Amino acid sequence: MNRITVSAPGKLMLLGEHAVVYNHPCLVTAVDQRMRATVEVLNENIFELDAPDVKITDYKKSIDQVGSGDIPKGAKFVEVAVKNFADKYPLFTSIKGGLKISTVSEFSSQFGFGSSSASTVCVVKALSEISQSNLSDEEIFKIAYKTVLDIQGKGSGFDVAAAVYGGVLYFVTGGAKIEKLDIKNLPLVVGYSGVKANTVTLMNQVKEKFADNADRLAEIYSLIDRLVESAKKEFLAGAWDRAGQLMNENQKLLVELGVSIRKLDDMISAATGAGAYGAKLSGAGGGDCMIAFSSDEKRADVEDAIRDAGGEVIKVAPNAEGVRIEK
Ligand code: PMV
Repeated sequence: MNRITVSAPGKLMLLGEHAVVYNHPCLVTAVDQRMRATVEVLNENIFELDAPDVKITDYKKSIDQVGSGDIPKGAKFVEVAVKNFADKYPLFTSIKGGLKISTVSEFSSQFGFGSSSASTVCVVKALSEISQSNLSDEEIFKIAYKTVLDIQGKGSGFDVAAAVYGGVLYFVTGGAKIEKLDIKNLPLVVGYSGVKANTVTLMNQVKEKFADNADRLAEIYSLIDRLVESAKKEFLAGAWDRAGQLMNENQKLLVELGVSIRKLDDMISAATGAGAYGAKLSGAGGGDCMIAFSSDEKRADVEDAIRDAGGEVIKVAPNAEGVRIEK
């Protein structure tokens, strides 16, 4: 095989962000807007990357330089993924020559849907196929998560798991537990704040804010842990009103962590004011998206309220399929 296209879903954090970095669980859903990567074997010993969504075009280097030297920001995840794969599996014994990788996203990299982790997962899966290494989902998760840690220094891996496995997951730090929940119709509404957030900056910000108050931080994380455990049960029971209340509780704790912003607060209270079961920010905070759970009857009102508060409603379906071969 000389050419393959693979796709992986974006994600949205449902409950448990921040705490999940420190050995607590979270709930995450894969969404049906996908990242696509095409990997092609070249005769020449070069590495080529085309990723226009992250402003990488005409990027070329010698194949033995992959993963080293100065790597532009937009190329990092793909390049380090190739290097990590080749370090562990016999990539360059099965392919002679170089590689051309192109990535295209169905969603904006601004939304915080996890475009970096989804493209990392696509590349690992594609290399597994091209080199006939037949990696299991667990092995794909491990290489892709290592790649994210190599670049970001920290992170729970929840986004990588969503891209690999798809569905709605109960996930514990580093993949200590990854459980796919049998849930059909998550009543999800998504609003984009228009503000770009940086995950690592926000994680560090929380640490700094609580530098002199480690006890309260630990307490907040264990309260979030309990909310996630309760929400998991309500999700499985389809009790969306009670799940919504737990989202509201989670949001209060995120406000205390200092990661919400005025725009998100406005969109969240607009959604609950319009009759949503509950609403909260999704992900690191500081911008990106908020989510709400709503009945079908109230959905249009909730969406209007989010727009009136200055948000952009993004139509995505939850529970999307994990990484898959396209052709
Ligand atoms: O900003 P996002 O959507 O990538 O979410 C980050 C969630 C954190 O819990 C803050 C970090 C993590 O890796 O779990």
